[in-house]
Amino acid sequence: MAMVVITATLLIFLLCSPTPSVAILLNKLQLPSPVTGPESLAFDRNGGGPYVSSSDGRIFKYVGPNEGFKEYASTSPNRNKTVCDGLADFSALQATCGRPLGLGFNHQTGDLYAADAYLGLVKVSPDGGNVTQLFGPAQGNSTRFTDGLDVDPDTGIVYFTEASTNFQLKDFQSLVNSDDNSGSLLKYDPSTNQTTVLLRNLSVPSGVAVSRDGSFVLVSEYLANRIQRVWLKGPRANSSELFMILLGRPDNIKRTSRGQFWISVNSFIGSPISPRRATLPRGVLVTENGIVLRVVSLASEYGAEAASEVQEYNGTLYAGSLLASYAAIFTTP
Ligand SMILES: *[C@@H]1O[C@H](CO)[C@@H](O)[C@H](O)[C@H]1NC(C)=O
Ligand SMILES: *[C@@H]1O[C@H](CO)[C@@H](O)[C@H](O)[C@H]1NC(C)=O
Ligand SMILES: *[C@@H]1O[C@H](CO)[C@@H](O)[C@H](O)[C@H]1NC(C)=O
Ligand SMILES: *[C@@H]1O[C@H](CO)[C@@H](O)[C@H](O)[C@H]1NC(C)=O
Ligand SMILES: *[C@@H]1O[C@H](CO)[C@@H](O)[C@H](O)[C@H]1NC(C)=O
Ligand SMILES: *[C@@H]1O[C@H](CO)[C@@H](O)[C@H](O)[C@H]1NC(C)=O
Ligand SMILES: *[C@@H]1O[C@H](CO)[C@@H](O)[C@H](O)[C@H]1NC(C)=O
Repeated sequence: MAMVVITATLLIFLLCSPTPSVAILLNKLQLPSPVTGPESLAFDRNGGGPYVSSSDGRIFKYVGPNEGFKEYASTSPNRNKTVCDGLADFSALQATCGRPLGLGFNHQTGDLYAADAYLGLVKVSPDGGNVTQLFGPAQGNSTRFTDGLDVDPDTGIVYFTEASTNFQLKDFQSLVNSDDNSGSLLKYDPSTNQTTVLLRNLSVPSGVAVSRDGSFVLVSEYLANRIQRVWLKGPRANSSELFMILLGRPDNIKRTSRGQFWISVNSFIGSPISPRRATLPRGVLVTENGIVLRVVSLASEYGAEAASEVQEYNGTLYAGSLLASYAAIFTTP
């Protein structure tokens, strides 16, 4: 009964949610051709970046309009540039070349953490040179599709998701047509090097974000059109609840400096991959209570290529995509 009441309240919020404003494209940050898929973006502690994940296993850093993106690191220890450079998404070779998806910095140490679809949780040293695999097949953990990631800025604890234990990124088409609920939310503690599972049986958990005070973590369920909240501290610690329902597929979630969250939401007509049919990509800004503050349409830019992430940085909106060849910078009216 309580759940019914909560759901009704959430639906009312949705129906009363602000009319979408249309984001205006300021700039496209193009990846070196033919690389695609800047699924997630991160900024370092000096305001440098964005750093983006990519389809061929490399992480690129944007260094400015003249030089564009420069190679920063790669997630796979045995990556062969001849074989891997320029690799497109959904190739079986990504299993060895790597396919970083979610990215996040620990600003205290300067380490960059990546959720690699095939290799699991990976840490990149501040100079980009040293890559450590922390949790994944190489460590004996049966990960199949590591996806979203966030770092608690105070504790350095890394929250990340396993989208599915049945499907890999190369099977994405089958995954989105399934009713899979084998995903999980995990927590990596750098002080102990221990990884633990926080929540199981999730329907493609694609994005994750910890709250500003570290008291809860949000996880999106792409196939279930909803966001769950897992309490980490306080009287409700270790329990989870429905946070909000969305009219579309929620992907990455990014906290703003004010403690609110941008959720990337896509509504598909047809399959998200093939044929690449019309999508309605939006950024939805919500409070810590799940109240919708703003809805921004990115449709003019990402017409056919879903936006996977919307992130606010320095007062500007950045968007990432699993399929596009660029990251986009927007302003909103
Ligand atoms: C963000 O703003 C800071 C302070 O003005 C600046 O140093 C930094 O370069 C900016 N970063 C980006 C990516 O715009
Ligand atoms: C990388 O792959 C190419 C093409 O298969 C091969 O010729 C080369 O020896 C490989 N390099 C290394 C370091 O394994
Ligand atoms: C990289 O790893 C090597 C070997 O473990 C170590 O000697 C070196 O100090 C590390 N460099 C950085 C920048 O962490
Ligand atoms: C943490 O665990 C990973 C995976 O088992 C291992 O490679 C790494 O050396 C460990 N680090 C520390 C500091 O124990
Ligand atoms: C990861 O694999 C190691 C080695 O098999 C195991 O000890 C550990 O319990 C696994 N962790 C999880 C969360 O499954
Ligand atoms: C929940 O997930 C576990 C494995 O993580 C699985 O064994 C179990 O069957 C799942 N339960 C449901 C209801 O799907
Ligand atoms: C939550 O779980 C942790 C670890 O199992 C435990 O230490 C803590 O007491 C639990 N908190 C509550 C409120 O149940």
